[in-house]
Amino acid sequence: MHDTTPSTSRLTVLTGDRPTGPLHLGHYVGSLKTRLKLQETHAQYILVADTQAMTDNAHDPDKVRRNVLEVALDYLAVGIDPHKSTIAVQSGLPALAELTLLYLNFVTVARLERNPTIKEEIQARGFGRDIPAGFLCYPVAQAADITGFKANVVPVGEDQAPLIEQTNEIVRRINRQAGVDVLPEAEALIPSMGRLPGVDGKAKMSKSQNNSIPLSAAPDAIREAVRSMYTDPYHLRASDPGTVEGNMVFTYLDVFDDDRAEVERLKASYRAGGLGDMMLKHRLEDKLQALIAPMRERRERFAQDPGYVFSMLRDGTDRAKAVTQHTLDEVRTALGTFSFASVRS
Ligand code: TRP
Repeated sequence: MHDTTPSTSRLTVLTGDRPTGPLHLGHYVGSLKTRLKLQETHAQYILVADTQAMTDNAHDPDKVRRNVLEVALDYLAVGIDPHKSTIAVQSGLPALAELTLLYLNFVTVARLERNPTIKEEIQARGFGRDIPAGFLCYPVAQAADITGFKANVVPVGEDQAPLIEQTNEIVRRINRQAGVDVLPEAEALIPSMGRLPGVDGKAKMSKSQNNSIPLSAAPDAIREAVRSMYTDPYHLRASDPGTVEGNMVFTYLDVFDDDRAEVERLKASYRAGGLGDMMLKHRLEDKLQALIAPMRERRERFAQDPGYVFSMLRDGTDRAKAVTQHTLDEVRTALGTFSFASVRS
């Protein structure tokens, strides 16, 4: 099952998450849900991207280190099965760092600065000329992550799409320089619903914005998050007509309530007037409690045995190490860089 030579029949999937805090519903909707499906049909690798997390957390390595276990627990909690998916720790894969160094020569600073994802993140963090070089260049490292596994498919939220674009540009440059298609291009698999907004209605759910619902949230925290959810500020009485668009309770029901017909009926009745926010919030809370409860229980079980989780990570990292080293060797050979192995005495 855990063959390290790339399978010819199955496509390869690669994703990752920065271990900077607990994963939340936004991660679930944007990517984890897709990974649960893909692990049944694809050769799937998942990176705990601690090296990438350092690019904007160099002042807090403790946080990154502690969250490696937390993110691994979140994976196991949602149902990522280490017998089907390979979970690896990025810092344990030196070949990725070497590929990054190589790729940096195939990307211009101007191109890095034009990357929309990076632009947005630079703005959010208030970086100017003081931007850490590692942060500006992390898309190149991410290209190394993706190509190091020769991934064909990358399930990510839509905010990450420009990074896959940039990866494919690097792939084409390397292949052109090598004169052979040593690396495959990757396809971003983006969920059709777009990104899940925060409970406050802001465009993105994020721990730093304090508008997220962690996958490990306690029942009380889920209740509180739903209670505080942004609805229609002009919908004061249940009898008033209300607005559905931009109303987070409906946005979330659209994602988490499988009874589509009922949700449409509720929307119509909310628009007409006569439906209170509380009733809707109760309905949504029930859905979220039901989704998260089994995750929380699984998480608690695994959390009691960190030794198991770390040995799972170590196994996964060992397998990933072989795959990525193999790719690095192939890229070097294809480019014809120096190697002692090729020196004849
Ligand atoms: N940039 C991703 C995030 O912030 C994490 C990540 C690291 C990743 N390496 C990756 C995503 C490779 C997809 C593929 O969530």
